[in-house]
Amino acid sequence: MRKPVIVGNWKMNKTVTEAKDLLEAIKNTELDSEVEAGVCVPAIDLCAASKILDGSDIKFGGQNMYYEESGAFTGEISPLMLNDVKADYVILGHSERRDIFGECDELINKKILSAFEHGLTPILCCGESLEEREANKQEEKVKSQIEADLKGVSEDDVKKLIIAYEPIWAIGTGKTASAEDAEAMCAYIRNLVEKLYSKESAEAVRIQYGGSVKPANVKELMAKENIDGALVGGASLKAEDFAALVNHRK
Ligand code: PGA
Repeated sequence: MRKPVIVGNWKMNKTVTEAKDLLEAIKNTELDSEVEAGVCVPAIDLCAASKILDGSDIKFGGQNMYYEESGAFTGEISPLMLNDVKADYVILGHSERRDIFGECDELINKKILSAFEHGLTPILCCGESLEEREANKQEEKVKSQIEADLKGVSEDDVKKLIIAYEPIWAIGTGKTASAEDAEAMCAYIRNLVEKLYSKESAEAVRIQYGGSVKPANVKELMAKENIDGALVGGASLKAEDFAALVNHRK
């Protein structure tokens, strides 16, 4: 059985002072222990997350990293830095990284390999734009991303991977994909993992949906067979909403 996984993606929100308050508030809410809960915070908030969440079941991680361990890469953070604060996850290939900062699949693939090499769980994001959806090219797009991003990833590692299917047109827009459309794409992705690896890997890999997930729609999405979790932006910035997302089964 795949453990459901709800992860907050804070994006570029929360100063260290604000992050401490939110982390304390999240830590002090009662969360369903049957659901894996985590937050991916801005790099500058990682130390606070590490200290405040220490001893709790709440996981945390970075929102990006470079694949090298150290060196002349101004502005970047490395897998060793994430290891040092005991981060669990790293989001890679988010559409904002791809579209605003020009990250390509070749780079994302190097980051994925490096994350696994350093014991981090990558949350690999994929998803189509509105134009691609309107042209019915969502499967083609996601296939090309996943094939390229997972090049050289072993079967053992792929079983530990989290994939977040996030249609770009649903991110931060209030427009959620219907639960049926989200399920169809998550099923497509699982099938793709089976073709690329094996049935066992496809059954182990966890697939999240992301894009305007909120307490009001999380239940319907999570009820779908191939949706194992959610990657949540806006609605993860309030402890109460985040708790409601994690506690969707209660
Ligand atoms: P949203 O963002 O929940 O604010 O739409 C999701 C994401 O980009 O991960």
